[in-house]
Amino acid sequence: MSAENFITREIAEQIQSKVGTPCYVYSEAALRESAAQVLAFPNAFGLTARYAMKASPNSNILRLFASMGLHFDASSGYEVRRAIAAGIDPKRISLSTQELPEDFVSLVEAGITVNVCSLSQLKRFGIALPGSKVGLRFNPGLGSGGTQRTNVGGPASSFGIWHEHLEEVQELVEKCELDVFRIHSHIGSGSDPEVWIRVVSMNLDLVEAFPNVTHLNLGGGYKIGRIEGEKTTDLQVIGQKMKVEFEEFAARTGREIHLEVEPGTYLVANCTAILSRIQDETSTGEDGYKFLKLDSGMTDNTRPSMYGAQHPMWVLPADESERGEEDYIVVGHCCESGDILTPAPGDPEALSPRRLTEAKIGDYFVVGGAGAYCASMAAKNYNSFPESAEVLLREGGRIAVIRERQPLEQVWANEVAVL
Ligand code: LLP
Repeated sequence: MSAENFITREIAEQIQSKVGTPCYVYSEAALRESAAQVLAFPNAFGLTARYAMKASPNSNILRLFASMGLHFDASSGYEVRRAIAAGIDPKRISLSTQELPEDFVSLVEAGITVNVCSLSQLKRFGIALPGSKVGLRFNPGLGSGGTQRTNVGGPASSFGIWHEHLEEVQELVEKCELDVFRIHSHIGSGSDPEVWIRVVSMNLDLVEAFPNVTHLNLGGGYKIGRIEGEKTTDLQVIGQKMKVEFEEFAARTGREIHLEVEPGTYLVANCTAILSRIQDETSTGEDGYKFLKLDSGMTDNTRPSMYGAQHPMWVLPADESERGEEDYIVVGHCCESGDILTPAPGDPEALSPRRLTEAKIGDYFVVGGAGAYCASMAAKNYNSFPESAEVLLREGGRIAVIRERQPLEQVWANEVAVL
């Protein structure tokens, strides 16, 4: 489902009068639809589908997904605490983190599982919790992501234990009598299905090296098309290919391995749009550009300025007047020349005009594909803009506020006055 289907002018007006703009608008129907797709992932010997909550961690999303049967992947101890505070059963949470949190022992005792991501983490984990169950996140030596910044496999990536460091791993595992029950890998966001399938067999080789492993977690990274021309991974097709590999592995080794998948982007990217308004327009003359200035920007979505990411966007006229079309550069409200919503694909430095409905100051403006890594990764409070409100479009058309706009005083509330 795309945001074009769920944000009409009428809904925009209702949101405007309820919480104002900018506002993230989540569609419950779209969230349910994508969760159902992920839960139907083909598998040979059982499936745990985890939501990589870093993509969009509002507690309502977590509870909605939990009620449908999803489990969760956290990337820090804080995310684990956030999920628990949202009411998620710790037994449904796994943690793959760059730094083991200070309180990892109590988190494990509460029921979470940990995928250790480096040899030094493994050592710390083993010393603190000898005899425990543990997952191992490996860098299988191969990565694939939409851009180099979202590729987290291969020799240029620090994520996961390098796949050739098996001897050191085995030594530590034996010394601390750890029970390695899961192999984990995540090779990047927007991964190419061909690379991925190769990674499955590389991971099964790692499974073979650990006789007690019952689970293989293949991470997230499924492609989702946000704009026309961008591909979406067919979960059924890729899942069937993986299933065959798991079945062949079982036939050869007698081991029936439980599959875990943990998408973030796929589950939420197209379920949310950012509703904002056009504040201003300006141009740089005949040979220059026409700019539309929004009341939102990198404070709500840094992806275009970080990765040259492409988002669908459109003008939602505030009146019924006849409109033509124009080529616009759309910019955010920050005093920062990088706050641009229409960069060239993959190149945040270059401007790429977008053909849009002719716009007027005061029109609504919608940025789609904004469910993953937008609210969670925004340049919050830059220029002292308060964090935006969030609403959930419930089935039946009700608009529920799921996060109030941040009160301005909270922007500086934790400062300590010493002068
Ligand atoms: N599992 C692990 C261990 C991860 O590190 C990630 C994402 C995922 C699962 C989910 O990956 P996804 O399905 O969302 O691709 N900020 C970037 C994406 C960074 C993802 C970091 N890890 C973006 O805006 O595309």
